[in-house]
Amino acid sequence: MVAPRILLIVGGGIAAYKACELVRLIRKAGGSVRCVLTEGGAQFVTPMTLAALSEQEVHTSLWDLKNETEMGHIQLSREADLVVVCPATADLMARMAAGIADDLATTLLLATDKPVLAAPAMNVRMWLHPATQRNVAQLRADGVTVLDPDEGAMACGEYGPGRLPEPPFIWSAIEQRLAAAPAPPAPGVQGGALAGRHVLVTAGPTREPIDPVRYIANRSSGKQGFAIAGALAALGARVTLVAGPVELRTPERVQRIDVETAREMAAAVEAALPADIAVMVAAVADWRAASAAGQKIKKNGSGATPTLTLEENPDILAALASSPQRPRLLIGFAAETEHVVEHAIAKRQRKNADWIVANDVSGDVMSGDSNSVHIVTDAGVESWETLPKTDVAHRLAARIADEFA
Ligand code: CTP
Repeated sequence: MVAPRILLIVGGGIAAYKACELVRLIRKAGGSVRCVLTEGGAQFVTPMTLAALSEQEVHTSLWDLKNETEMGHIQLSREADLVVVCPATADLMARMAAGIADDLATTLLLATDKPVLAAPAMNVRMWLHPATQRNVAQLRADGVTVLDPDEGAMACGEYGPGRLPEPPFIWSAIEQRLAAAPAPPAPGVQGGALAGRHVLVTAGPTREPIDPVRYIANRSSGKQGFAIAGALAALGARVTLVAGPVELRTPERVQRIDVETAREMAAAVEAALPADIAVMVAAVADWRAASAAGQKIKKNGSGATPTLTLEENPDILAALASSPQRPRLLIGFAAETEHVVEHAIAKRQRKNADWIVANDVSGDVMSGDSNSVHIVTDAGVESWETLPKTDVAHRLAARIADEFA
């Protein structure tokens, strides 16, 4: 399982403090958690506690305009792999069962297309009340996993079922629910969010020959582009991956075309059109040797060094942007070592791309397994936390699918 992304809705009950322990357990297992605190929940734990434990902003209000421009509630509800309600109070479950959306938590629960797991906690009489039992039955019929509460002495002094299950138990229920989630559909299968779409992905470096044994290249590993191709195929898209020289396995259900130079990559991209979406992840060499020697360049013994004259390579992304066959969604990457966001904003305009995914490549990002990216669109800049490249890929694929929903 890739590191799960959990949207945790914390309801208002004395057991809310245990949600903090749950955040810790999810993080410890490599998952990420975004917390939403109901008004009642905020009476028991503070946004600051949850923000510190999750290392992410905590959302409390539907009417927080800043969030609506930077991250709409629909997107918030779709970004996670699983929505967890903990503690799920009698009131919250009643509103969920009735389809009421009168605050951020219930709106997200109504808007989400992801599985939902609820961990109830309430007074024993409230739990056993026919209204609550009716609501639980309704939620289960709607596909929500509602855990049974623990039995025992309660904070209110009564005894019986109603205690929040212990956080390690909730975490194992989360793992089971995630494992049981339906696999993404195969291409062509009805229901894949990108079924019927053709996506073109470029990945890896290019290699520009100087002579038969030497070349100009860069440190791109191709990992991010391959992961994106795989994630898009998992959503049902037909994916053509134009790959520079890398030692990576072709992701499942992806059609791979291997190339070496920028000019070969440009030709392969053109031949693969039309496409609905293009994601240009390749680190294309900006220059090539003006004339590659036919034979190995030899030292002539004089100590003189040969002069390498460079020529600019075609800009594949910019050419695609001005092509009559321009894909509906054109996404470029920006590899930057300084002023990452500023350069990416300028690059988006210069190359006429719809989105630019900017990454800081000053560390070992190109060969490493994680990435911290900023998504630059016409709506602004979204900065994602550092994630494994596979998670960046899945999140980006989901974001693309939303665009085509
Ligand atoms: N790109 C391309 N063809 C090129 C150069 C770059 O298609 N000849 C694409 C890359 O795949 C990426 C985007 O353009 O999606 C930006 O690449 P980057 O190397 O960051 O930008 P450059 O255009 O090379 O600009 P600079 O090196 O000046 O930052």
